[in-house]
Amino acid sequence: MIKEPSMEFRYSRGLEGVIAAITSLSRIDGDEGILIYRGIPIESLAENSTFEETTYFLLYGKLPTKKELDDFNSELKEYRALSEDEVDWIKKFPKDAHPMDALKTSVSLMGMSDPSGWQESKEANLKIAIKIIARIPSFVAAFDRIRNGREVVPADKDLSLAANFLYMLHGEVPDEGNARVLDVALILHADHGMNASTFGTMVTSSTLSDLYSSIITGIGTLKGPLHGGANEKVVAMLKEIGSPDKVEGAMKKALAERRKIMGFGHRVYKAYDPRARILKEYAKKLTGKEESLLVQTAIKVEEVMVRELSKKGIFPNVDFYSGFVYKYLGIPTDLFTPIFAMSRVSGWVAHVVEYREANRIFRPRAIYNGPVGVEYTPIDERE
Ligand SMILES: CC(C)(COP(=O)(O)OP(=O)(O)OC[C@H]1O[C@@H](n2cnc3c(N)ncnc32)[C@H](O)[C@@H]1OP(=O)(O)O)[C@@H](O)C(=O)NCCC(=O)NCCS
Repeated sequence: MIKEPSMEFRYSRGLEGVIAAITSLSRIDGDEGILIYRGIPIESLAENSTFEETTYFLLYGKLPTKKELDDFNSELKEYRALSEDEVDWIKKFPKDAHPMDALKTSVSLMGMSDPSGWQESKEANLKIAIKIIARIPSFVAAFDRIRNGREVVPADKDLSLAANFLYMLHGEVPDEGNARVLDVALILHADHGMNASTFGTMVTSSTLSDLYSSIITGIGTLKGPLHGGANEKVVAMLKEIGSPDKVEGAMKKALAERRKIMGFGHRVYKAYDPRARILKEYAKKLTGKEESLLVQTAIKVEEVMVRELSKKGIFPNVDFYSGFVYKYLGIPTDLFTPIFAMSRVSGWVAHVVEYREANRIFRPRAIYNGPVGVEYTPIDERE
């Protein structure tokens, strides 16, 4: 007789409405479309902060003093450089691998060669966190250079994390405006409550596995098109639609076929995602011919979607406008999700460190609905 979990434990498909942790890192008010990191509205951080400062804020729970921020920046810069071994390994990766898979494997390599990688203390994990946050942009840029047959560009210690990433990717120091756009996008993506990849990293960490393994889980979880992979699909969809006058027809067909439109909808937001609002403003300022056609098409898609589906609480999410911004910065489409990872890693490690303060292994139950009492049939007697 199999005893099922007591019905007092409610089953919730996709864990909707389940509270999995207590956190002081970020809060989403899905009805009002408000996001705060440790009390500060995202709009204020996007306007006033930098990705490095926001990361410090998430990790250490306070805004840094000037000296603390300088020290934190120096530490991040120190860990940017890839080892010769790391570059050699990346050269062996299949050139047509998805950059998220290349990133997952790069972080795994880094973990294998870090003898201090498996630590339980908060201080030790914060140290490892800084190394990982510093190195991810270098891995992403190096893979892109190598797969295109170009030399890896060594990190520049004089640049911010965002500017240095663009420098390592293109081999040219970006202008300040472009570096700042990427910096803002990184701030906006740094944390977002109990999203799937954050939960994934926390599940791995709750077993007291190492931080590298947790981050690899996060990267793998973020890759999916229902999560971080959506921004890649948005640009592809808009290119396929082609121009604003084709939007009504394309949307009508897609909605009649009950297709999900990438970059719309959210489990928590039933109002406009505040991050999308900020990125939309940046996207509208993009000047390139192709970009502005894409943006106009996007604005029309938004108009139709809001008209048709806002009653269901479906509005643009952060992924709807992030793709244009990255495209404008000359970033290949398949690097959009790795850029998301470059930012969200701050939230992942902050949640892991916070949860470890009162760790308990995640171990939900499932309701078994298969047969019971089945006799084992020897292989020769099977149909
Ligand atoms: C984000 C997402 C995964 C949330 O999923 P969820 O909370 O499980 O919501 P569901 O998939 O159950 O959708 C609820 C309803 O809204 C509809 N819906 C949700 N997102 C939609 C979208 N992007 N386009 C069209 N319809 C959508 C569903 O068809 C469903 O309709 P129904 O009740 O008539 O069956 C989902 O909205 C989605 O797939 N969006 C597109 C991918 C995306 O942009 N992801 C990035 C998130 S930041």
